[in-house]
Parts: sequence; structure tokens; C-alpha cells
Amino acid sequence: MALLRRYGAYLAIAAAFVYFLYTLSFPYQSEPSEVPHRHNQHGGSKQAPQQGSYKWAKIPLKHPVTSMIPLPTGSPLPLPKIQFDFGTEDKTAKNIREKRLTEVKKAFERCWRSYRERAWMQDELEPITGGSKNPFGGWAATLIDALDTLWIMDLQEEFHSAMKDVAAIDFGRTDSERVNVFETNIRHLGGLLAAYELSGEKILLQKAKEVGEMLYHAFDTPNRMPITRWDFHKAGAGKAQVADETVLVAEIGSLTMEFSRLSQLTNDPKWYDAISRIMEVFEKQQGKTRLPGMWPIVVNARKPDFTQDTGFTLAAMADSLYEYLPKTYALLGGLNPLYKKLYQGSMKTAIRHTLYRPMTPENADILMSGFVRAEGSEANLYPEMQHLVCFAGGMFALGGKIFENEEHVAIGRKLADGCVWAYKALPFGIMPEVSHLYACPNTTECDWDEQIWKDEVARRADLGTEKDPLQNIANLRLPKGFTAINDRRYILRPEAIESVFILYRITGQQQWQAAAWDMFTAIQQNTQTDLANAALIDVSVSDSSPPKMDSMESFWMAETLKYFYLIFSEPNVISLDDYVFNTEAHPLKIPK
Ligand SMILES: *[C@@H]1O[C@H](CO)[C@@H](O)[C@H](O)[C@H]1NC(C)=O
Repeated sequence: MALLRRYGAYLAIAAAFVYFLYTLSFPYQSEPSEVPHRHNQHGGSKQAPQQGSYKWAKIPLKHPVTSMIPLPTGSPLPLPKIQFDFGTEDKTAKNIREKRLTEVKKAFERCWRSYRERAWMQDELEPITGGSKNPFGGWAATLIDALDTLWIMDLQEEFHSAMKDVAAIDFGRTDSERVNVFETNIRHLGGLLAAYELSGEKILLQKAKEVGEMLYHAFDTPNRMPITRWDFHKAGAGKAQVADETVLVAEIGSLTMEFSRLSQLTNDPKWYDAISRIMEVFEKQQGKTRLPGMWPIVVNARKPDFTQDTGFTLAAMADSLYEYLPKTYALLGGLNPLYKKLYQGSMKTAIRHTLYRPMTPENADILMSGFVRAEGSEANLYPEMQHLVCFAGGMFALGGKIFENEEHVAIGRKLADGCVWAYKALPFGIMPEVSHLYACPNTTECDWDEQIWKDEVARRADLGTEKDPLQNIANLRLPKGFTAINDRRYILRPEAIESVFILYRITGQQQWQAAAWDMFTAIQQNTQTDLANAALIDVSVSDSSPPKMDSMESFWMAETLKYFYLIFSEPNVISLDDYVFNTEAHPLKIPK
């Protein structure tokens, strides 16, 4: 993976790990540019199609739990008010807002129609050729992921007419060799739970339970730590399993919301028990890592030892571990203080070590969150900017509200502003997947210095025979402030609009709606195909429109378009006082 390969000292583990990832050929959200079409290789046709269907709930466990950890009891604590107290809207503002809302809905309906016509029941539509692919087990990922968006956009007929096909999805079989537990949890389990909560359709809870029964078998190991890249057929055949020694921390740490909610809705504590055992490890080892407070990107689930690796980030491969802490706290009605403790401890470290102010020609007062290598007594910051880390603005702002910490809300605003800045900096108004900036010495004051920027570009670039820094910058297609663009794609990602949406609902400031509209028009204009919307290969070109690739991940309709829709909805539609969104933008109800 590019993220690992870029840092020299990381190569030892990276070599083993890259091999590990390739053999599993997994669809992680942050896949690097070097393998842009890995999804195509993924469908898992390597083994003969499975006969029959595993009845997960009936397959005996080898390592059953003898004493269940119960859900916390008691009445939910009242949470502080999260959303801005929106007053009445003036007529012009309402007019503009509703026009924009209609445009977003139109974009969604186009994609939905094409999926329905050409890729129905498949995981993804190919938006250029009209083909389809199945990188997520072949369980209709786009359909399940988009169900709650259909409901929110009031596409009732489409929603109800999909129910019988959803009911027919068989989670006891797949042609894939391995199942990515994290992706199945956030997309399928999260999608079904949210659609159930909104609609009350019983079949959706039934299907969520089926997914839960399947995933529960990934926890059937001697130490009850789950296998995150899970051999479905081995488990289905009742063979012994052990947890892996090399696990991405986000994948083992981002199961708490969906599993907790499933236990709440079914009154069966086993899913809550399953994730609680993981969170105990996080708690025990929080102070023992090389950057105490945070946990490294790669952890050992077999021991379990979450302390050894030296790479730390809020970005890819760690991200939703942190995002889920305040959200799970809210979902459990504030009744388990563990989540507050883990969050406050990790954010203290993250603020101190991962945040930086990038040097920009506008001297913008913004923040970004980079990568940290911690070795010995040193913690070195690499001023990276991933599109994926744009979720952090929303996390800090929301976490700041939940735990009544205005400093965190302010940090959230500056992080979200950083992503708005990055969108505007590119020729077509769309931020690239991975780039680097120059980190100012401090966050209070930072004047643009053109020479520093040019020197930094030259230092990072492999100059070849080109000695003229200006020519060099032109060749690298770097907007001012960017010192490198390492992955030039935009894959229809949601994280920037996600944070902009949360900041809008929390502050009520119209600047966020304006920023959202600029993002939406830029994305819509440049990604639209005859059928739907396609990922972009290179957002840094300026002479022609950005070239496209034949990919539309399910998060485009599940997340990106949902957040664009919600920022232009009435603010009481899926209020942040009533719901928390999982990392796939599926709203789960906060118990009151
Ligand atoms: C912050 O860094 C700038 C240099 O970019 C310097 O001029 C300024 O004095 C520093 N401010 C503080 C508070 O350290």
C-alpha cells in the first residue's frame, strides 16, 4: 500500500504487510493508486462456487463465551444539545436551498435507476460500461448501502419495492474466498440497521441479525479476538480458527456501533459482549504504546498486543477506530464511561502530535492531520493530507459537543476548513486522494514563504534532469501550498462533505452550505457519466477535464450523496441530536 511504502523506515513491516494485503486482495477504502483496479481482481472466483448455504446461527461454536458482558443498564443520560438552534428561514435562503436539494436528489435518482437496470443485486455498477462487479461478497452492497438514503430522500416506492429482493439475499453463501469483516459490518450490518430504524420494516432487522450471526463466527477464536480478513468457508465447515498477528487497527476497532445497536435491538447481548472484549484490550494498552494515548496502525490480535507498531495516524487504516468512540458513547446512552476515557486520552495525543497548520498562500488559519512515526523518544510528523482524514473535522466538532469541549469544536472547524481549502486549491475544485503540504512551525501564525515552498517541492520530488523549480512545479501539477500529490484520484469519497455537513448542523453558519454547493457542483460536473457517476483518475490536470475510471463504490449513494442531501434538507431531518452516523453514513438512533 502506498501509505506504508512511502515511509522508508516502515519498509520491513510493509513488505510483509503488503504481501498480506495483496493475497487477501481486500477492498479497503484507502487503496493506493498503484492498484487502481484491485476491485476487478477481487470477485473471488478462485474457488469452486459453494454448494448450499451455511446456517450460521446453527453452527456450533468452538470457543463459546461462558460469561456474557451485558449491555449497560439504567436510563440513558441526557446528552448536551448538539445541533445549532435554527430559527425560521428567510424566503430567499429557503428557495435556494430547496433548488439545491432537488439537484442532489436528481443525481441520486439517476444513479439508482442505472443500478436498478444494469447491476441489480450486484455489489457495484460500473458507471461507464454499465457492467457490474462484486467486491463485497456479492450481497448487493450498493442496494443495502443505499436503502436508508432512499428513505431519507422520500423515494418510498423504490424503497418498498426493494424489500422482497433484500429478503432474498443469502448471507450463508458467497463466491468470495474471504470476507472483510469491517466492510461487511459498516456497509451491510450498518445499512440494514439504519434502514430498519427509519422504516420499521421487520425484515430488515431479520436480515441484520443474519449478518450479525455470520460475523459472530469470525470471533470464534481462542481469545475471542475476531479474524478481520475472514475465511468464510473454513468457518462454515466448522474448522478451528485463530486471530491474526497482523491486523489493521481500524478493522478491529470499528465494530462497536453496529454490534452495540444490534444487541440493543434484539435484546441479545452477544454482539455487545464480542466488541467489549476488544475494547478491554484497547483500554489496557492505551498507555503502553509508542505514542501513548493512541494505538498504532497495525496490531497483533493473536497475543493480543496493540502496542508494537510505530506508525500512528487519524487517517487511513486507523480512522474509524477513533470516530466510533464518542459515537458509541452516545449510542450507549452515556452509560459506559470507557468510551469517553478512550476518546479523551487518544485525542489529547492526536492534537499534540498529528495536527499541523499547513502553509498556504492565503495564510489560511486551518489545520490538517498527518502521519506520525514514533521511535524511541522521537515522534516525527509527516505532513500528509489524505482525503480520507477529512472526516476528522466532523469527529472533533461532534465529540466536542458530546463531551462539552469547545476547544475540540474549534479544532473541528479548522480541520473542516482545511478540506474546504484543499478542494478550492485544485483546478476543478476537487481534492486529491493523498498529497503533502508544508507544516508551519506552529499553529498560531504562519506567513506564506514562496521560497520555502519551492525548496520543499524540490526536496520531495525526484528532480531528474529538471533543475528549474518553477518548471518542476508545473510538471508536477502542484497548486501553491502542495509539496507533493501522491495519489491523484478522487474516488467519489464522502469525508469532506461529511465534516462540512456536521459543521453546518452544529454551527448554523451558511458558509458551510456554500462550500457544500461548490463541492457538489464540481463533483457532479466532473464525475457524471451517461449512466451514473465515476471515480476520477487525476484531479490535478488543468487543460482538459479529469479522466474517469469505471468505478462507483457503494459509498457514493450511501454517504456522499446522503450528506449532500442532508446539508440542504431542513435541519430536523436526521438531527444530530437524535442520530449518530456510522462510518458508512448510516444513521443509528440514540436511545432516549
Ligand atoms: C510561529 O511561527 C512563526 C514563523 O512561521 C513565527 O514568526 C512566530 O513568532 C511563531 N509564533 C509563536 C507563538 O511561536
